[in-house]
Amino acid sequence: MLKKLQEGSCSFYASAGKISKELPVFYNPDMKLNRDVSILLLKSIPDKDLRILDLLAGSGIRSARFVKELPASKIKDIVVNDKSSEAVKLIRKNLKLNKVNAKVFNRDANELLIQSSGFDYIDVDPFGSPNPFLDCAAKRLSRKGILAVTATDTSALCGSFILACKRKYWAAPVRNYMMHETGIRILIRKVQLIGAQYDKALEPVFSHSTRHYMRVYFRCAKSKTAVDKMISKHKYLLFCNKCLDISVHPQNRKICCKKSMAWAGPLWTGNLWDRRLILSMLKRLDRDNPALLNLLSTINTESKIGVPYFFSIPLICRNLKKSCPKKEEILKIGKTAQTHFALDGIRSKKDIKKLKKFIQAL
Ligand SMILES: C[S@@+](CC[C@H](N)C(=O)[O-])C[C@H]1O[C@@H](n2cnc3c(N)ncnc32)[C@H](O)[C@@H]1O
Ligand SMILES: [Zn+2]
Repeated sequence: MLKKLQEGSCSFYASAGKISKELPVFYNPDMKLNRDVSILLLKSIPDKDLRILDLLAGSGIRSARFVKELPASKIKDIVVNDKSSEAVKLIRKNLKLNKVNAKVFNRDANELLIQSSGFDYIDVDPFGSPNPFLDCAAKRLSRKGILAVTATDTSALCGSFILACKRKYWAAPVRNYMMHETGIRILIRKVQLIGAQYDKALEPVFSHSTRHYMRVYFRCAKSKTAVDKMISKHKYLLFCNKCLDISVHPQNRKICCKKSMAWAGPLWTGNLWDRRLILSMLKRLDRDNPALLNLLSTINTESKIGVPYFFSIPLICRNLKKSCPKKEEILKIGKTAQTHFALDGIRSKKDIKKLKKFIQAL
């Protein structure tokens, strides 16, 4: 059974029924924001004539929206693929409904990638982990291309399943207030290590963690030196559960308050966002999209702070044995911003001692 829906500028058909992997053709309305960000990002980069690949397309809604919502000069070629023949039937129907021209394939993702001559934008939006597709995607990403990666296996990345995270992402997660940020940084390092094998430095230009998924956009630079520089930013984040200090360190052992600190990593400790891209996205943002506006405004302020961690207001207040002041009051300390990773978190250049002193006095 199909139902007719609307998303962005497109009408389209999707399988009726409860949202799950078992749907004949997968479509999740909760991922609209994920698609909105990808469209805004593609609008906001200077690139033109892109060869785009929607590798795991489901209903094809993302590609239909790319063609209808991006300026024609952006796209040279768009390939829409899914290994499910039911999905491909629906993709064709949906593209036709929206009068969209695209090349549609019903192939295994990795086969399609390997037999292709490459793409400038590859969208990897799988069920669960992107791992099975990373190697071929990294190989076929053009020299300055963009790789977009979604991961929905957040239980591994955020520390519910530590061994699964070690197996799949080659790093140890932590299950604390910062687990979404440490998780996305672990995912980033894993993708970077796959690219590094082919001398491709995959630098994140935009990242977000929303509801049940993480999403990162990487810009490729084909350069051994860029890869070496990137790998030098793979470190550990250490947490003192007593004084709440956080430290970025090349090793996973450090003492604070006479005890070994808790740790996560190795993980990416560089930037999650390219500031120039954020400014360009803000200029092109549709102000009638509150979810996107909210995400981008928060990311705009937190990306200025430039530290790979944040603090938890409730934890600091509990540590000070004090009721929590309003976040707005705490932000007045300066060099501090809210974070999209947690409503009660603050990203700050100030050290924990200064933060505590300031909060104590409020
Ligand atoms: C999460 S859904 C994609 C959702 C879609 N990107 C969207 O924005 O609505 C994942 C899709 O990957 C497809 N898929 C899974 N394994 C695949 C493979 N090895 N090759 C090609 N497609 C695959 C599934 O059939 C499913 O439609
Ligand atoms: Zn300490």
